[in-house]
Amino acid sequence: MRILITGTTSGIGQQLATDYLSEGHTVYCCGRNLAALTNLSNRFPALAKNLNFDIQDLEDCRRALSELPELDLVILNAGTCEYIDARQFDAASFERVVRINLIGMANCLEFLIPKITEGGFLSLMGSSSSYVPLPRAEAYGASKAATEYLAKTLSISLKQQAIKVSYIAPGFVETPLTDLNDFPMPMRVGVEYASDHIRRGIAKGKSEIHFPKLFTGLLKALSLLPFALQKRLLAKTLTN
Ligand SMILES: NC(=O)c1ccc[n+]([C@@H]2O[C@H](COP(=O)([O-])OP(=O)(O)OC[C@H]3O[C@@H](n4cnc5c(N)ncnc54)[C@H](OP(=O)(O)O)[C@@H]3O)[C@@H](O)[C@H]2O)c1
Repeated sequence: MRILITGTTSGIGQQLATDYLSEGHTVYCCGRNLAALTNLSNRFPALAKNLNFDIQDLEDCRRALSELPELDLVILNAGTCEYIDARQFDAASFERVVRINLIGMANCLEFLIPKITEGGFLSLMGSSSSYVPLPRAEAYGASKAATEYLAKTLSISLKQQAIKVSYIAPGFVETPLTDLNDFPMPMRVGVEYASDHIRRGIAKGKSEIHFPKLFTGLLKALSLLPFALQKRLLAKTLTN
């Protein structure tokens, strides 16, 4: 397959790229960190193609993506996280998160949807934080809830072109992003586990890929409760 993955310089994206490359697929690897991209392409010189660009910048995306050949699978994984103190709401932080996680995705979609082959696959990286409103995740959760909507609406709109779309909603995964977290992360899994689940979900053509099931199942169950009850339970997770 010809695959493009954003955010392959670290964490989940790096593991996905490594696993697909190890299986013999051609992978367009994306990110701003050129040293990390080069490191991966040196390991798989015949199969890894580097695309060094910033997803926040539409013109940079055009330069990097508009001349690509047809693709069988696109995984828009690049993202970031900043937590918000609601009492000192920081609009700049909110904008940074939404610009990368949501607008960055739209910037890539403009050039990549036309490249996806009939019968191909598009996966958008969200988070299980989109299932319930988690305190301090006002920016991150909002960007991921919007990604969930985007994935679901694209899966309907692109059905005629036979392009399958999936929404990926991991729980906590051990990466440089979550290493920064200062709170307990229940059921945190490794990047190998995450990559296995995502690749198996894509191979099966699933429209929603979420894991670990016990954790995401609890969040999904919580989301079915009346909101007043959700609010009472989730407020207990606030430390101050
Ligand atoms: N780790 C978790 O627990 C977890 C849980 C649920 C969902 N997720 C989602 O999974 C995705 C990957 O997260 P991760 O934990 O693997 O984080 P990570 O290790 O920090 O990796 C983030 C990747 O995104 C890329 N990226 C960030 N901003 C970018 C930009 N402006 N332009 C281009 N690339 C950019 C980074 O590349 P450069 O810095 O080289 O640009 C990096 O390769 C994110 O969307 C995250 O929200 C993670």
